[in-house]
Amino acid sequence: MNQPPIGVFDSGVGGLSILKALRAELPHEDFIYISDSACAPYGERSEAFVVARARAITAHLLHQQPAIKTLVVACNTATAAAIHLLRQDHPALPIIGVEPALKPAVALSQTRRIGVLATRGTLGSAKFQTLLASLTGQADFICQPCDGLAHAIERDDAPAIAHLCAQYVAALGPLGSTAGHIDTLVLGCTHYPFARTLLQRLAGPAVTLVDNGEPVARQTRRMLPNLSTASASGQVLLAATGHPDSLSLAARRWLNLDTTVQTL
Ligand code: DGL
Repeated sequence: MNQPPIGVFDSGVGGLSILKALRAELPHEDFIYISDSACAPYGERSEAFVVARARAITAHLLHQQPAIKTLVVACNTATAAAIHLLRQDHPALPIIGVEPALKPAVALSQTRRIGVLATRGTLGSAKFQTLLASLTGQADFICQPCDGLAHAIERDDAPAIAHLCAQYVAALGPLGSTAGHIDTLVLGCTHYPFARTLLQRLAGPAVTLVDNGEPVARQTRRMLPNLSTASASGQVLLAATGHPDSLSLAARRWLNLDTTVQTL
């Protein structure tokens, strides 16, 4: 890479759903994506553990040559636990995070009843509780922690994904467009868009699924210190802290990227 890339990281393959939107919005930028697969999943770990991982990966990305010019924390759990600390540590680095799309869901919902699927870590965080409190009175939010789902998506374990999605969607209660039903479902973990077809089928056609890949990509464009002027399409470097196979399979399948994954 000749130009400073944009750094992107997640606990695993989930952040590829954000990288996909970033590449569509910023086709000439170079990206370096890190999957912290040796430490995935983050969602059921302690906040201190997630903070330590977010700090270590950010430090690694800043020591690359050339160093990253912007960081996208493509993980709701790591954003909730660590983004304020990363911004304190690196005040000159633009840092964009991901949080469950509650505000867009309020704008979309007719029944004012909104389901939120996310990790236990995200839902239990002070950041999420503050977001929820800021929307008091605007809608009812039914929040469902989805233990094991990100991990099942990480392993591409279809029977486990099917079982867990069915269990968690059923736990939300009635879904549909009638009053008292959930008509909008927030995918509050970057892994879940990769189970979107199944979740939509379980929720039914009247329910709108919301994630935040595109808004995050637009926000990244606004925060970039400088846009790349290269006429060629941007390069993507993929790296994993654990076994590289999940990331290389997912990148091929979902982003059509046939890149060798480096092991860190
Ligand atoms: N993809 C991440 C998120 O958005 C983390 C999932 C996990 O590692 O548990 O929350």
